[in-house]
Amino acid sequence: MIQAKIAETLNSNQFLQEFEIKGWVRAFRSNRFIALNDGSTINNLQCVVDFENFEEEILKRVTVGAAIRVLGTLKESQGSQQRVEIEVTELEILGDANPEEVKLTILSPKRHSLEKLREQAHLRVRTNTFGAVMRVRSRLSFAVHSYFQQNNFHYVNTPIITGSDAEGAGEIFKVTALDLKNPPKKENGEIDYKKDFFGKETNLTVSGQLEGEAYAMGLGQIYTFGPTFRAENSNTSRHLAEFWMIEPEMAFCDLDRNMDLAEDFIKYVVYDVLKHCKDDLEFLEQRLENEEKLKPKAERTEMSLLKKLNFVLENNFKRVSYTEAIEILKNCKPNKKKKFDYIIEEWGADLQSEHERYLVEKHFKSPVILFDYPANIKAFYMRLNEDGKTVRAMDILFPGIGEIVGGSQREERLEVLQSKMAELNIDEKELWWYLDTRKFGTCVHSGFGLGFERLVQFVTGMGNIRDVIPFPRTPQNAEF
Ligand code: 4AD
Ligand code: MG
Repeated sequence: MIQAKIAETLNSNQFLQEFEIKGWVRAFRSNRFIALNDGSTINNLQCVVDFENFEEEILKRVTVGAAIRVLGTLKESQGSQQRVEIEVTELEILGDANPEEVKLTILSPKRHSLEKLREQAHLRVRTNTFGAVMRVRSRLSFAVHSYFQQNNFHYVNTPIITGSDAEGAGEIFKVTALDLKNPPKKENGEIDYKKDFFGKETNLTVSGQLEGEAYAMGLGQIYTFGPTFRAENSNTSRHLAEFWMIEPEMAFCDLDRNMDLAEDFIKYVVYDVLKHCKDDLEFLEQRLENEEKLKPKAERTEMSLLKKLNFVLENNFKRVSYTEAIEILKNCKPNKKKKFDYIIEEWGADLQSEHERYLVEKHFKSPVILFDYPANIKAFYMRLNEDGKTVRAMDILFPGIGEIVGGSQREERLEVLQSKMAELNIDEKELWWYLDTRKFGTCVHSGFGLGFERLVQFVTGMGNIRDVIPFPRTPQNAEF
């Protein structure tokens, strides 16, 4: 007897052999054809039962959602929908699913909106769409590790609980073990964090970069891949309060090489999923096409999913300075006709996602790397350019997504870093260890952060970031 996953069974040539398969019933037609799925592939296995050989009591329990075990012979299929099928000799119900109750859930066999599926995030993984998205997500994770391991990067786990706000945006979740109803107070009435668990104020990390930099100063090239947390109250299709970020950091590396690495890395992982997730991507392409058909013509994307992925592989990302981008935006139609929510008037303006998307989707029609941003709209650790007003920052912008990567060359000069911190009121005492890295063998170094869910969104064509992570954390929502 061969115990196999459905993915293996569907490709097997071991005809007339006995197979044992366990999975969940997707459909049971004509009291004869069970469509079985076990999560190993988007495709179902057709299991054919001769109802005369089975007790009616058992057959009645073969209902949508039920977990079953089948034993049977692998045969060439008579039908045109599949190459092989299982002729069932033994059938066992492992876990019933009451049809009356199933009817009230998203497991019921009809079209449910993505919003509805989100309300039952514990069940949605059993749908074709979420099965496909989550398998692609898993493969992408693996490709991330493969890429860096093959290129001599070391995987570093940076702390989840920290005392610093690396991005300085103040969008942090506090961590405390104090009794919030009755916290210890100092004489001036403020909460006394010295009495808290860590003896200081702490929060969930917004980025592993600062600790990553310290490790790059010893291991040379590192990457992190872990959860990060941001309490930004943005209810958009691209923001999560808990998301996964990949952050490589390289000693002896400037911004140009940093951009090269980011582009090469993205191309590698896209190539990898194209190669290994063909069935899932073809399904997702079809799903997207159906969704696009419901939109007015002007809003539809021009490229199919696979075309878009291949386009990224085959074309160089356009590298454009912030200054050039501002010129383009100042003079573009939607800006002049005041179609943007935020009108670009002068150099120094922060770019909103409407501007980023215009550059990528309308102007360049290609992924874009913007670099050399004004210092005062970027974080404290970025390297100041000779002009004294721009920093060696880069953002990679993708069609349909906007910013997918944010990175920079780091300020390696101690005094420049110190004066920048003073300017922004960042306490040196909090980051004494970070400053140490500039005292002991400082060097040119760079890195970036890629938002993993935005990458999964791009690759799967899912419009909402809540649909590419199993249990999304967003404002007013921490169910499951
Ligand atoms: O641009 P960000 O804030 O950069 C950093 O955190 C740097 N410390 C990275 C580095 O240089 N090591 O975030 C990096 C990326 C963004 O480009 C975006 O893809 C993603 O993280 N991101 C989010 N993804 C989902 N939800 C959110 N709320 C996100 N905020 C940022
Ligand atoms: Mg950013």
